[in-house]
Amino acid sequence: MCGIFAYTGKKNSTSILLDGLTSLEYRGYDSAGIFIPGSGSIKSVGAVNNLKKKITKTIQGTSGIAHLRWATHGEPTEINAHPHHDCTENIWLVHNGIIENYKELKEKLSALGHTFKSSTDTEVLAHLIEHHLHKTKDFEKAVIATLNEVTGTYGIAVAHNTDPDKIIAARNGAPVVIGIGNNENFVASDPTPILRHTKNVIYLHDGEVAVITPESHHIYNLNSILIERQKETIDWDVEQVKKDGYEHFMLKEIMQGPEVIENTIRGRLIIEEGTAKLGGLEMVTDKLRSIKRIVIVGCGTAYYAGLVGEYMLEEYAGIPVEVEVGSEFRYRKPIMDEHTALLAISQSGETADTLEAIREAKRKGALTLGIVNTVGSTIARETDAGIYNHAGPEIGVASTKAFISQLTALSLFTLFLGRQRTMSQSTGKQIAEEIKLLPEKIKSILAQKETIRKIAEKYSNSRDFLFIGRKYNYPIAFEGALKLKEVSYIHAEGYGAGEMKHGPLAMIDENFPTLAIAPLDSVYEKMISNIQEIKARKGKIVVITTEKNTQIKDMAEDIIYIPETLEVLSPLLTIVPLQLFAYYFARKKGLDVDRPRNLAKSVTVE
Ligand code: F6R
Repeated sequence: MCGIFAYTGKKNSTSILLDGLTSLEYRGYDSAGIFIPGSGSIKSVGAVNNLKKKITKTIQGTSGIAHLRWATHGEPTEINAHPHHDCTENIWLVHNGIIENYKELKEKLSALGHTFKSSTDTEVLAHLIEHHLHKTKDFEKAVIATLNEVTGTYGIAVAHNTDPDKIIAARNGAPVVIGIGNNENFVASDPTPILRHTKNVIYLHDGEVAVITPESHHIYNLNSILIERQKETIDWDVEQVKKDGYEHFMLKEIMQGPEVIENTIRGRLIIEEGTAKLGGLEMVTDKLRSIKRIVIVGCGTAYYAGLVGEYMLEEYAGIPVEVEVGSEFRYRKPIMDEHTALLAISQSGETADTLEAIREAKRKGALTLGIVNTVGSTIARETDAGIYNHAGPEIGVASTKAFISQLTALSLFTLFLGRQRTMSQSTGKQIAEEIKLLPEKIKSILAQKETIRKIAEKYSNSRDFLFIGRKYNYPIAFEGALKLKEVSYIHAEGYGAGEMKHGPLAMIDENFPTLAIAPLDSVYEKMISNIQEIKARKGKIVVITTEKNTQIKDMAEDIIYIPETLEVLSPLLTIVPLQLFAYYFARKKGLDVDRPRNLAKSVTVE
């Protein structure tokens, strides 16, 4: 969703604000803008580079607010770009979220004589602050009074022309992090743009307001009561948010697969005992023994990781599992009780639908768990216990390394829960030993990236693509299709191979290629039958299969080989060529893979 960034300190703020926006760019690229108190505002449609071209020397100061927009209310035009201001043009504000009662507020303020320029929900906030400032004569009080009148979600940063050192930030349902520096402080939607300045941060909670100047930071609730909050240190490194010589973050992040697995399992695999030590679950270990059912919730890629988790947990931990997308779970009447655990999977830890599912499950008395990458994020804080991915920041909008890490964390969770229940030590040991070998096996797939590039380029004029798989690789068919559609904008569909005869086979002809995920496993023969059915309809087939498989040669147009592994862990290998395939396919079409149109990295609105 949108990204906000703000700075107050002693340095020239223009470049700091622009750099901040550049490193937040995966959050939105419909428009960008900055405001520097006492100096003015510049906005532009499109990505940050367009804004940079418009910056002149006349705009300068030592503080400011900045914004990247992912449009919700109103077209992505310059008028609708943030920062927005009040009638006096003294109060300026950036916002991530949606103000639900903006229409009523706009009517009320218009009747009082306020004039609005944009068609955004955000602009009402600036005018409402103006309205309250007129009455209270106090900037902080005016912001708090405004927030007490609005419903909806917000992460905001507000600045005033006559109080240039002060930035007021607030949060309700959209993430806000305060960076604590030396004679300088920051506000941002996530820690990424802050990292290069300081590792000390405070995560605002819902209903909190932060008032920062270069030398001070204070946090209040919406009753203006001061709140004590310790700062936390982020363990992410500034180097991790650079491209490291890769053309795109997406490629860098795919290539990081081996190290991501190593980071996710570090200190957690206990091979001799065939289990995993998961510190974040220690305080609920006993409770987990009495759980009779798990409901996994996630969105998009995280949901597909959950589907793999379902197969892993049911087979090896013997516990019933259901998987659901957050946007459905929150609006129906799910049956949850104290014997159910809800496991939320989320890279960002901020996805609104997943977060609301957690809150719903909590209301119903369920234990809530998280597999989350972003330390300190809302989902990490609101779940009872969980597993951090330790995958490092994921910048590419299409999730790649986080998916690998989610599957790894799910396999650790399966060992942990399985060994509490039915799994024998020898089975646990066999899985644990194989997990340890995965990084090397992924390296051997990544080494074939040129072969995969050529195959992807060969098909890059296709308008449609079908992905099929079975059992553990059934969800990988969905994830492979999602990767391709989001970065290349073509129609790609994931299907259970066994379902082909029930409908999709009708689409197949020589112009509708299929990618079949067919490692040598317990459903291999069934996959071969499905591949034959497609071939008989003149469909072109790319197959992903195990290295020693020589039989498949005559059936496939192109073959990508992966090393042998246990069936339960095979998705960790089969997904890698699919990620590379999507990347090179989109590259050949000349598309911006790191910033696919209409998408943003962190979906903090429903
Ligand atoms: C796809 C993708 C999205 C996310 C989804 C959930 O490549 O990135 O489908 O997986 O928006 O995001 P998180 O994991 O942050 O909850």
